[in-house]
Amino acid sequence: MTLILHMACTFSTSQRYKQSERILYSLWRVLAGLAWVFAALFIGNALLVTDYKDIHRQIHNEERPHGSETLPKGIVTATSDLEMRALWGNHKMNPENQTNLLGMAVGIKQKESVDKIVRKFLSSGFVIMLFHYDGNVDAWKDFEWSDRCIHVSAVSQTKWWFAKRFLHPDIVSEYEYIFLWDEDLGVEHFNATRYLSIIKEEGLHISQPALGPNSTDVHHALTRRKPRDRVHRRVYQKFGGTKCTEDSTGPPCAGFVEMMAPVFSKASWRCAWHMIPNDLVHGWGVDFRLGYCAQGKPTENVGVVDSEYVVHNSVPSLGGGFTSDKVSQLSVLEPSCKQYQREVIC
Ligand SMILES: *[C@@H]1O[C@H](CO)[C@@H](O)[C@H](O)[C@H]1NC(C)=O
Ligand SMILES: *[C@@H]1O[C@H](CO)[C@@H](O)[C@H](O)[C@H]1NC(C)=O
Ligand SMILES: *[C@@H]1O[C@H](CO)[C@@H](O)[C@H](O)[C@H]1NC(C)=O
Repeated sequence: MTLILHMACTFSTSQRYKQSERILYSLWRVLAGLAWVFAALFIGNALLVTDYKDIHRQIHNEERPHGSETLPKGIVTATSDLEMRALWGNHKMNPENQTNLLGMAVGIKQKESVDKIVRKFLSSGFVIMLFHYDGNVDAWKDFEWSDRCIHVSAVSQTKWWFAKRFLHPDIVSEYEYIFLWDEDLGVEHFNATRYLSIIKEEGLHISQPALGPNSTDVHHALTRRKPRDRVHRRVYQKFGGTKCTEDSTGPPCAGFVEMMAPVFSKASWRCAWHMIPNDLVHGWGVDFRLGYCAQGKPTENVGVVDSEYVVHNSVPSLGGGFTSDKVSQLSVLEPSCKQYQREVIC
């Protein structure tokens, strides 16, 4: 009897279990279903929101400079130029449209050489920025052209330091070409107007005048003048394990210029500016990387102009070569240069 009761009891309990299991199971299914619905709603909503944000961005903030998003469109001045204007009235002080810029780090000890360079470029209608690394600005007032130049002074800084801080691509976007030259260059055989027309014709985005005879410190065969050429873009030589041929695409055969007298198109400067490290002293390493900024065609858009050339006098200074106290910094740069050579050449 007890056994039967027990069995009945067990039976009914297991029945009840089964019943509640079924209820639980269907509850679970309902819940799971609800969860799916909620998840779908949530994801859909998120997608919708992203979409909307994207569209919103596309409509309202297209090409907006970072940080200016809250400004009404009409009052944004996205770019700038370096033109000098009279304090009274709004007329430009510069005589005609000046569309090219020469930036040069200078010290008063090199004033003869700088004077010659500045006169050349002023006569070709350039805007000129002088970066005074010796802090000496007043001594230049003797030159009649002094007031027509923009003077920036910071003691013991290099051309690249100045370029990084004062020639941001947005600031100099008005200029077609940017020349960033050393002060120790002889310009007897150089005419900036002719140089400009040559690089435009040849489509050179990054260029330099060839280094003429008697130049000291010719580091690379590529930049040495070829007297019979107008422009050259490559050399055919053997450098250590590298043999330069028609197929070579990079340094030391093609696709770079040295850092003593580079000339950048607007587009290539927008790229090259980003590569300038803060402590750049001499430019080694960066010169070999310039090919990245050649608008996709380093072997076509980078070249050396032979018919307009300069003579490099290699005066040790911050505007040109390097001073002895900078040599230690230079030896810090060299390993990265070597590493870069491996990266690109080999
Ligand atoms: C200077 O630039 C303005 C505006 O871009 C243009 O209208 C004018 O013709 C230019 N003048 C010269 C002399 O090139
Ligand atoms: C530079 O070349 C241009 C164009 O050939 C010429 O008009 C100008 O006189 C030259 N400037 C100098 C200083 O020789
Ligand atoms: C190079 O130097 C020699 C000797 O000093 C001189 O005669 C020649 O004119 C110079 N060449 C150039 C292009 O300056």
